[in-house]
Amino acid sequence: MAQTKLVKEDARPYEPAKGPALRRVTAGAIKRRKGTATIPMITAYDAPFGRYAEEAGIDWILVGDSLGNVVLGFDETTPVTMDDIVHHTAAVVRGTSRAHIVADMPFGSYQVSDEEAVRNAIRLVKEGGATSVKLEGGSDVAARIRAIWRAGIPVVGHIGITPQTAGLGPGYRMRTHRERLLEDALAVEEAGAYAIVLEVVDFEIARELTQRLSILTIGIGSGSHCDSQVLVLHDVLGMYPHSPPFVKRFAEIGIATTNALREYAAAVKEGTFPST
Ligand code: KIV
Repeated sequence: MAQTKLVKEDARPYEPAKGPALRRVTAGAIKRRKGTATIPMITAYDAPFGRYAEEAGIDWILVGDSLGNVVLGFDETTPVTMDDIVHHTAAVVRGTSRAHIVADMPFGSYQVSDEEAVRNAIRLVKEGGATSVKLEGGSDVAARIRAIWRAGIPVVGHIGITPQTAGLGPGYRMRTHRERLLEDALAVEEAGAYAIVLEVVDFEIARELTQRLSILTIGIGSGSHCDSQVLVLHDVLGMYPHSPPFVKRFAEIGIATTNALREYAAAVKEGTFPST
């Protein structure tokens, strides 16, 4: 019987082709940055701004449901749908090659049951290309976080101001209830999240949470002691006249855009563009 000769290549260890999830920075790699330099995170909602963020060295991008406010023209985040987030996540994924993309689970996509939460998280990964998902809430959503994590999807929690349910509590005021925040943060960590957003949390409590938790804290309006900082892209770029008090506007793109369009319109009307 003919023997197949073992050629050198046959002896090489099997190396699977790298799929998108491995090309991108993993949740584990981001978590291991805890205790090193503060990690910048930014929101993005489309391909070009995903690319700009990546070119700026930001490799942790959130497709937030702030999409509703800053892109879709709603006054709040609650009308944002799964289809909206899938659509915009896929665009950000197409515009980037290595960044870790966190997709926000919109209101209504995880409240009903663990099963529905897992199904929707899977959609964000399969159809949107997200590398992890985020959902709002503390101990009340611990079971959902655990179910999604057990399905193999990294999860980011979100406590403090939770815009999807802001109407239930003290609205947009700073959260200062230490025991409650601590209990929620520990429940989110225990459920398997690898990071947690602290939105407008008392600075000292945010510092304590950052020290006590083994997972990453992502601050927004919660002082400088968090492991990471996130802001909404349109606030950072000054795309609207008003932004929350904790925001630093690093540009005035709104004014620059209006001026550019005004000049363009004038040039067309005056006949100076096109020049021939
Ligand atoms: O939707 C969003 O952009 C967010 C950030 C503000 C954390 O949840």
